[in-house]
Amino acid sequence: MTVAIIGGTGIYNLPGIEVEEKHIRNIYGEAMVYLGKGEYKDVVFLTRHGVKHTTPPHKVNYRANIRALKDLGVSRIMATYAVGAISRGYPVLELAVLRDFLDFTSGRAFSFFDEIERGIGHVEMSKPFCPTLSAKTIELALRHGINVHDGATYVATNGPRFESPAEIKMYQMLGGDVVGMTACPEVYLAGELGMSFGAVALPINLAAGLEENITIHEGNIDEVRAKMIALMLDVLKETTDEECQVPILL
Ligand code: HPA
Repeated sequence: MTVAIIGGTGIYNLPGIEVEEKHIRNIYGEAMVYLGKGEYKDVVFLTRHGVKHTTPPHKVNYRANIRALKDLGVSRIMATYAVGAISRGYPVLELAVLRDFLDFTSGRAFSFFDEIERGIGHVEMSKPFCPTLSAKTIELALRHGINVHDGATYVATNGPRFESPAEIKMYQMLGGDVVGMTACPEVYLAGELGMSFGAVALPINLAAGLEENITIHEGNIDEVRAKMIALMLDVLKETTDEECQVPILL
Protein backbone atom coordinates (compact mmCIF):
# COMPACT_ATOMS: atom_id res chain seq x y z
CA MET A 1 0.00 0.00 0.00
CA THR A 2 1.59 3.22 -1.17
CA VAL A 3 0.14 6.72 -0.92
CA ALA A 4 1.00 10.03 -2.53
CA ILE A 5 0.83 13.72 -1.86
CA ILE A 6 0.73 16.07 -4.81
CA GLY A 7 1.89 19.54 -3.87
CA GLY A 8 0.93 22.67 -5.71
CA THR A 9 2.16 26.24 -5.69
CA GLY A 10 4.31 26.93 -2.63
CA ILE A 11 4.71 23.27 -1.67
CA TYR A 12 8.01 21.90 -2.87
CA ASN A 13 8.94 19.46 -0.10
CA LEU A 14 7.52 17.60 2.87
CA PRO A 15 9.02 19.38 5.89
CA GLY A 16 10.91 17.08 8.24
CA ILE A 17 10.67 14.04 5.98
CA GLU A 18 13.79 12.55 4.44
CA VAL A 19 13.30 11.75 0.76
CA GLU A 20 15.12 10.43 -2.26
CA GLU A 21 14.65 12.14 -5.62
CA LYS A 22 13.70 9.87 -8.50
CA HIS A 23 13.09 10.53 -12.19
CA ILE A 24 10.62 8.18 -13.77
CA ARG A 25 10.19 7.72 -17.52
CA ASN A 26 7.03 6.33 -19.04
CA ILE A 27 5.40 6.52 -22.45
CA TYR A 28 3.95 9.96 -21.58
CA GLY A 29 7.27 11.57 -20.63
CA GLU A 30 9.25 12.08 -17.46
CA ALA A 31 8.02 12.65 -13.92
CA MET A 32 10.09 13.68 -10.95
CA VAL A 33 9.03 12.33 -7.59
CA TYR A 34 10.42 12.13 -4.09
CA LEU A 35 10.26 8.80 -2.31
CA GLY A 36 9.92 8.96 1.47
CA LYS A 37 12.43 7.13 3.66
CA GLY A 38 12.21 5.31 6.98
CA GLU A 39 8.82 5.78 8.63
CA TYR A 40 7.58 7.41 5.41
CA LYS A 41 8.80 4.75 2.98
CA ASP A 42 5.25 4.28 1.69
CA VAL A 43 4.79 7.96 0.85
CA VAL A 44 5.51 9.44 -2.57
CA PHE A 45 5.66 13.21 -2.98
CA LEU A 46 5.17 14.87 -6.31
CA THR A 47 5.58 18.59 -6.79
CA ARG A 48 3.31 19.40 -9.69
CA HIS A 49 5.11 22.46 -11.03
CA GLY A 50 8.63 21.08 -10.63
CA VAL A 51 11.37 21.87 -8.16
CA LYS A 52 11.36 25.64 -8.48
CA HIS A 53 7.92 26.09 -10.00
CA THR A 54 9.29 25.91 -13.52
CA THR A 55 6.27 24.33 -15.24
CA PRO A 56 3.16 26.46 -15.82
CA PRO A 57 -0.27 24.85 -15.28
CA HIS A 58 -1.04 24.26 -18.97
CA LYS A 59 2.37 22.64 -19.54
CA VAL A 60 2.33 20.20 -16.62
CA ASN A 61 2.64 16.66 -17.95
CA TYR A 62 -0.33 15.36 -15.98
CA ARG A 63 -0.34 11.96 -17.65
CA ALA A 64 3.37 11.32 -17.01
CA ASN A 65 2.88 12.33 -13.35
CA ILE A 66 -0.21 10.21 -12.71
CA ARG A 67 1.16 7.21 -14.63
CA ALA A 68 4.38 7.43 -12.56
CA LEU A 69 2.38 7.34 -9.32
CA LYS A 70 0.42 4.33 -10.55
CA ASP A 71 3.62 2.52 -11.55
CA LEU A 72 5.04 3.16 -8.06
CA GLY A 73 2.05 1.28 -6.66
CA VAL A 74 0.18 4.33 -5.35
CA SER A 75 -3.45 3.64 -4.53
CA ARG A 76 -4.52 6.78 -2.62
CA ILE A 77 -3.63 10.39 -3.38
CA MET A 78 -4.15 13.63 -1.48
CA ALA A 79 -3.57 16.73 -3.60
CA THR A 80 -3.36 20.42 -2.74
CA TYR A 81 -4.25 23.40 -4.88
CA ALA A 82 -3.60 27.11 -4.43
CA VAL A 83 -6.81 28.80 -5.59
CA GLY A 84 -8.73 32.03 -5.79
CA ALA A 85 -11.86 32.24 -3.64
CA ILE A 86 -15.09 32.83 -5.56
CA SER A 87 -17.76 32.29 -2.93
CA ARG A 88 -17.91 33.85 0.50
CA GLY A 89 -18.05 30.45 2.22
CA TYR A 90 -14.40 29.81 1.36
CA PRO A 91 -12.28 32.51 3.05
CA VAL A 92 -8.72 33.26 2.10
CA LEU A 93 -6.09 31.19 3.97
CA GLU A 94 -8.66 28.70 5.29
CA LEU A 95 -8.73 25.20 3.82
CA ALA A 96 -11.46 24.08 1.44
CA VAL A 97 -12.26 20.40 0.91
CA LEU A 98 -13.07 19.76 -2.75
CA ARG A 99 -16.12 17.67 -3.67
CA ASP A 100 -16.81 18.57 -7.30
CA PHE A 101 -15.40 20.45 -10.28
CA LEU A 102 -16.27 22.46 -13.36
CA ASP A 103 -13.68 21.85 -16.07
CA PHE A 104 -12.92 24.82 -18.33
CA THR A 105 -9.48 23.62 -19.42
CA SER A 106 -8.71 22.99 -23.07
CA GLY A 107 -5.86 21.72 -25.20
CA ARG A 108 -4.43 19.48 -22.47
CA ALA A 109 -3.64 15.77 -22.78
CA PHE A 110 -6.51 14.80 -20.53
CA SER A 111 -7.12 11.08 -20.88
CA PHE A 112 -5.36 7.72 -20.93
CA PHE A 113 -8.14 6.45 -23.16
CA ASP A 114 -7.20 8.19 -26.35
CA GLU A 115 -5.10 5.54 -27.99
CA ILE A 116 -6.62 2.70 -29.89
CA GLU A 117 -4.61 0.01 -28.07
CA ARG A 118 -6.01 1.06 -24.69
CA GLY A 119 -9.56 0.72 -25.93
CA ILE A 120 -12.37 2.97 -24.81
CA GLY A 121 -13.05 3.81 -21.19
CA HIS A 122 -15.39 6.31 -19.52
CA VAL A 123 -14.53 7.12 -15.95
CA GLU A 124 -17.54 7.96 -13.83
CA MET A 125 -17.36 11.34 -12.08
CA SER A 126 -20.41 11.22 -9.78
CA LYS A 127 -18.03 11.56 -6.84
CA PRO A 128 -14.80 12.88 -8.33
CA PHE A 129 -13.13 13.32 -4.93
CA CYS A 130 -13.08 10.24 -2.69
CA PRO A 131 -15.82 10.66 -0.04
CA THR A 132 -13.80 8.68 2.51
CA LEU A 133 -10.66 10.81 2.12
CA SER A 134 -12.81 13.98 2.24
CA ALA A 135 -14.70 12.90 5.37
CA LYS A 136 -11.43 11.93 7.09
CA THR A 137 -9.99 15.34 6.20
CA ILE A 138 -12.91 17.07 7.95
CA GLU A 139 -12.75 14.76 10.95
CA LEU A 140 -8.99 15.13 11.48
CA ALA A 141 -8.99 18.88 10.82
CA LEU A 142 -11.52 19.30 13.61
CA ARG A 143 -9.38 17.13 15.87
CA HIS A 144 -6.25 19.17 14.99
CA GLY A 145 -8.07 22.47 15.47
CA ILE A 146 -7.70 23.47 11.79
CA ASN A 147 -10.49 25.46 10.15
CA VAL A 148 -11.82 23.68 7.06
CA HIS A 149 -14.78 24.35 4.82
CA ASP A 150 -16.38 21.35 3.18
CA GLY A 151 -18.19 20.98 -0.13
CA ALA A 152 -16.22 23.20 -2.48
CA THR A 153 -16.72 23.05 -6.23
CA TYR A 154 -13.42 23.76 -8.02
CA VAL A 155 -13.44 25.65 -11.30
CA ALA A 156 -10.49 24.61 -13.45
CA THR A 157 -9.31 27.25 -15.89
CA ASN A 158 -6.55 26.90 -18.44
CA GLY A 159 -4.33 29.72 -17.25
CA PRO A 160 -1.71 30.88 -17.09
CA ARG A 161 -3.61 34.15 -17.09
CA PHE A 162 -6.04 34.95 -14.30
CA GLU A 163 -9.74 35.29 -15.02
CA SER A 164 -11.70 38.40 -15.94
CA PRO A 165 -14.38 39.69 -13.52
CA ALA A 166 -17.11 38.63 -15.98
CA GLU A 167 -15.72 35.09 -16.11
CA ILE A 168 -15.70 34.90 -12.31
CA LYS A 169 -19.29 36.18 -12.23
CA MET A 170 -20.21 33.40 -14.66
CA TYR A 171 -18.42 30.72 -12.61
CA GLN A 172 -20.19 32.01 -9.51
CA MET A 173 -23.56 31.66 -11.27
CA LEU A 174 -22.63 28.11 -12.27
CA GLY A 175 -21.90 27.13 -8.68
CA GLY A 176 -18.11 27.44 -8.60
CA ASP A 177 -16.61 28.13 -5.17
CA VAL A 178 -12.87 28.31 -5.84
CA VAL A 179 -10.84 28.70 -9.01
CA GLY A 180 -7.49 27.23 -9.99
CA MET A 181 -5.61 25.92 -13.00
CA THR A 182 -4.50 22.37 -12.21
CA ALA A 183 -7.09 20.01 -10.66
CA CYS A 184 -8.26 19.06 -14.15
CA PRO A 185 -7.24 16.74 -15.67
CA GLU A 186 -5.32 15.51 -12.59
CA VAL A 187 -8.36 14.24 -10.67
CA TYR A 188 -9.90 12.28 -13.54
CA LEU A 189 -6.61 10.87 -14.81
CA ALA A 190 -6.14 9.36 -11.34
CA GLY A 191 -9.68 7.97 -11.59
CA GLU A 192 -8.94 6.45 -14.99
CA LEU A 193 -6.07 4.50 -13.44
CA GLY A 194 -8.15 3.37 -10.45
CA MET A 195 -6.61 5.52 -7.73
CA SER A 196 -8.69 7.28 -5.09
CA PHE A 197 -8.14 10.99 -4.89
CA GLY A 198 -8.87 13.56 -2.21
CA ALA A 199 -8.05 17.26 -2.37
CA VAL A 200 -7.66 20.32 -0.22
CA ALA A 201 -7.55 23.80 -1.71
CA LEU A 202 -6.01 26.85 -0.12
CA PRO A 203 -7.46 30.17 -1.31
CA ILE A 204 -4.64 32.71 -1.51
CA ASN A 205 -6.62 35.55 -3.07
CA LEU A 206 -10.14 36.69 -3.81
CA ALA A 207 -11.02 35.89 -7.42
CA ALA A 208 -10.98 38.63 -10.06
CA GLY A 209 -13.57 41.35 -9.59
CA LEU A 210 -14.08 40.63 -5.90
CA GLU A 211 -11.32 43.09 -5.04
CA GLU A 212 -10.04 46.05 -7.05
CA ASN A 213 -7.01 43.98 -8.13
CA ILE A 214 -5.90 40.44 -7.42
CA THR A 215 -3.99 40.52 -4.15
CA ILE A 216 -2.07 37.45 -2.99
CA HIS A 217 -2.49 37.11 0.77
CA GLU A 218 0.63 35.75 2.40
CA GLY A 219 -0.34 36.21 6.08
CA ASN A 220 0.57 33.08 8.04
CA ILE A 221 0.69 31.05 4.83
CA ASP A 222 3.76 28.97 5.77
CA GLU A 223 2.09 27.89 8.99
CA VAL A 224 -1.14 27.01 7.14
CA ARG A 225 0.77 25.02 4.50
CA ALA A 226 2.70 23.08 7.15
CA LYS A 227 -0.56 22.20 8.91
CA MET A 228 -2.15 21.22 5.61
CA ILE A 229 0.67 18.79 4.77
CA ALA A 230 0.57 17.25 8.26
CA LEU A 231 -3.22 16.89 7.90
CA MET A 232 -2.95 15.19 4.51
CA LEU A 233 -0.31 12.75 5.78
CA ASP A 234 -2.59 11.86 8.69
CA VAL A 235 -5.58 11.42 6.39
CA LEU A 236 -3.60 8.94 4.29
CA LYS A 237 -2.33 7.16 7.40
CA GLU A 238 -5.78 6.81 8.93
CA THR A 239 -7.58 5.47 5.86
CA THR A 240 -7.29 2.19 4.01
CA ASP A 241 -7.60 1.18 0.37
CA GLU A 242 -10.62 -0.96 1.28
CA GLU A 243 -12.68 1.96 2.58
CA CYS A 244 -11.65 4.40 -0.15
CA GLN A 245 -13.67 4.72 -3.31
CA VAL A 246 -12.36 4.73 -6.82
CA PRO A 247 -14.53 6.13 -9.62
CA ILE A 248 -16.02 3.39 -11.76
CA LEU A 249 -14.72 2.81 -15.27
CA LEU A 250 -17.52 2.15 -17.73
N1 HPA B 1 -7.43 32.07 -10.44
C1 HPA B 1 -6.87 30.95 -10.97
N2 HPA B 1 -5.91 30.27 -10.36
C2 HPA B 1 -5.50 30.70 -9.17
C3 HPA B 1 -6.04 31.84 -8.56
C4 HPA B 1 -7.06 32.58 -9.24
O1 HPA B 1 -7.58 33.61 -8.77
N3 HPA B 1 -5.38 32.02 -7.37
C5 HPA B 1 -4.49 30.98 -7.28
N4 HPA B 1 -4.56 30.19 -8.35
